[in-house]
Amino acid sequence: MNLRIDSVEVINPKRKSGSSPQPGNLYPYYAGYSSLFAQKIIETVVLPENSVVLDPWNGGGTTTTVASMLGYNSTGFDLNPVMVIVAKSSLIGQNNLKSIQPLCLELIDLSKKSLALPKSDEIDPLKIWFQPSSAGTLRGLEKAIQRVLIPGPYRLLKDRNISSEVSSIAAVFYVALFRVIRKLLVKFRGSNPTWIKTPSCKKNRLRPNDKAIYDAFSVEVQLICEESNSNNEFLDFPSANIPELNVSSSEALPLPDDHIDFVLTSPPYCTRIDYAVKTRPELAVLGFGNDDSFEELRRSLMGNATVSKKNIEASDLWGDECTIFLRRLYHHTSRASKSYYYKNHIQYFDSLYSSLSEIERVLKPSGAAAIVVQTSYYKELLNDLPKIVGEMGESVGLKTSRVNDFVVRQDMSRLNKGTTKYRPNKKNKETVVFLERN
Ligand SMILES: C[S@@+](CC[C@H](N)C(=O)[O-])C[C@H]1O[C@@H](n2cnc3c(N)ncnc32)[C@H](O)[C@@H]1O
Repeated sequence: MNLRIDSVEVINPKRKSGSSPQPGNLYPYYAGYSSLFAQKIIETVVLPENSVVLDPWNGGGTTTTVASMLGYNSTGFDLNPVMVIVAKSSLIGQNNLKSIQPLCLELIDLSKKSLALPKSDEIDPLKIWFQPSSAGTLRGLEKAIQRVLIPGPYRLLKDRNISSEVSSIAAVFYVALFRVIRKLLVKFRGSNPTWIKTPSCKKNRLRPNDKAIYDAFSVEVQLICEESNSNNEFLDFPSANIPELNVSSSEALPLPDDHIDFVLTSPPYCTRIDYAVKTRPELAVLGFGNDDSFEELRRSLMGNATVSKKNIEASDLWGDECTIFLRRLYHHTSRASKSYYYKNHIQYFDSLYSSLSEIERVLKPSGAAAIVVQTSYYKELLNDLPKIVGEMGESVGLKTSRVNDFVVRQDMSRLNKGTTKYRPNKKNKETVVFLERN
């Protein structure tokens, strides 16, 4: 039975208040669509019973949380492990929520005891922003979370299997720690909310004392409980439908062919927003930082601002719109168009194409996908990503059955300096592109 794409209710994907947490999301995340948008689509697409809903760029987990709340099975992947933890935290459930505050006291108690132990000189990426004593206290809290809530000897989370080892309760405490660190690091935020600075020298690192850190942790746990209680409807999942969340690339989904009924997703923006830098402090909590691990992760994320050493060629399979845009970009007179910007865009489109091929592979023959994308500009050149997604979709065997456009008011692409000089008055649009298997 095919899905009823014609009668799906599509409202504006935009979240109401900038970056504040929305129902079900305990962590402010600027890059997602609203829960109500996801809810209207998943309700009105009329899925068969036992359907599986997928988000291959799961972010804060809006799609998977809403799909499960509506009684469907769901699965979400994100290559950034921080986002998998964030998405897991929203699955806490009413019963578990009651145990959060007593557990918080236990965790603080345990980490206070560990403060009395001799300090190790371990290399800790938290020391990028914090003096060693404060980094040690924050790490002590993280170790306590593991000791109480994650079986087995302590290992940095970057070396663990987050999907199977981190429960939603443990994820809530990690999110509380993320929120503490984010508040402490407020002076390292630049005008661009997606960027976090590092101290210019070691003496400028922060030195919050132990009491300030423990108090801040208790406050965040308390706030998380209040926020969750005020969003009651997100606390009760049919237990059979807890989403499966995993760290994985959209370009190689660990799913069998013909498995998914519906995809609701939004790929990373094509405006060089660096998702890894945005979450660098949280990644430091997981142990990414001092070796090459942070840089490796950063380079692997789609839409990042780096350029790969691999020589990727543009392909005609990406469609006319993409080919013409790339040609105009290449010949643009502005500095580095031919070199850095051209290569950076090629990299993005290559990942997008591979990901759409994967979506086609895992969709059931009766399945469909709704993909939320925005137009953007390179200088004055329109990058019509909705059209490119449609044409790439055709090329991998997905036909566009519907598009819904919305005007974008708060424009992420304008965060990069220099973009407004070339296009003072042009508005971007956000589009929901529906693709069905041919
Ligand atoms: C626009 S956000 C998704 C927002 C999500 N739909 C929501 O509402 O919360 C894109 C996400 O893709 C992730 N990402 C980037 N490259 C990826 C890749 N190759 N595979 C999987 N996820 C990736 C980023 O970490 C980011 O969380």
